[in-house]
Amino acid sequence: MSQKIALVTGANKGIGLETVRQLAQRDFHVILSARDQAKGQQAITDLKSEGINAEFLLLDMASSDSIQSAATSLAEKFSHLDVLINNAGINLDTTEDAIENIPVQRYRDTFETNFFGLIELTQALIPLLKKAPAARIVNLSSILSSLTYHAQPGSPTYDFKWAAYDASKTALNAYTVHLAYALRDTKIKVNSAHPGWVKTDMGGESALMEITDGAKTSVQLATLPNDGPTAGLFHMGQPLPW
Ligand SMILES: NC(=O)c1ccc[n+]([C@@H]2O[C@H](COP(=O)([O-])OP(=O)(O)OC[C@H]3O[C@@H](n4cnc5c(N)ncnc54)[C@H](OP(=O)(O)O)[C@@H]3O)[C@@H](O)[C@H]2O)c1
Repeated sequence: MSQKIALVTGANKGIGLETVRQLAQRDFHVILSARDQAKGQQAITDLKSEGINAEFLLLDMASSDSIQSAATSLAEKFSHLDVLINNAGINLDTTEDAIENIPVQRYRDTFETNFFGLIELTQALIPLLKKAPAARIVNLSSILSSLTYHAQPGSPTYDFKWAAYDASKTALNAYTVHLAYALRDTKIKVNSAHPGWVKTDMGGESALMEITDGAKTSVQLATLPNDGPTAGLFHMGQPLPW
């Protein structure tokens, strides 16, 4: 296959679906993964009606069995993987929560998808990513991951706190930096992305960015040139503080 191959998780809707669309428009062979077969297939059908081809893969980021079987089927089908976009994410917090009352189980559930599942999938796919000429790993983080901003009165996020979600994304950033370090002598680049505050089911209707723009950071980091950055947190080409 002469096309570059990209896998996007949580891609049946929102930023993930738009990322699939934009990568396919850049001539990638894109694997659209989703935890729900019917929703994933519907997304494939909808893209097809726009003249865009993508391939479906069933993948639940909260299930170790699902992750392992998806990784196995990718390794059977493809000789390498050029791009992994860890896009799937959940936010179980609400603005009414007082931090002392948040059940620990909510942290566990949030981390299962946003952190542990992401690590398991990435580990399972590193052999395939290493076989690509210059792979890119993009971890969908958030500006809400930034401890610098959260601790700084007047910063963009100082008064916006979702404890479990924010912590899962901060932990994800740590994984980004550690993985980038481990892969520093390869051509693989690993970065965290803040897509912006985007009008999706998660971002809500008041969000400032349209979905088309919300996918741009992921696409940019997935298509970084060989002299591009690694081990960073970026929004639209600009670095954000950890
Ligand atoms: N929207 C924003 O303003 C914003 C800002 C900063 C960061 N982000 C990050 O950007 C990413 C995409 O967000 P979005 O706004 O597009 O959210 P979204 O519209 O809620 O879409 C989230 C996607 O993740 C999938 N997902 C959730 N749990 C999953 C699991 N266990 N396995 C596989 N897929 C799963 C969802 O599938 P279902 O349809 O089956 O639920 C859906 O396809 C997330 O990581 C989010 O944290 C978003």
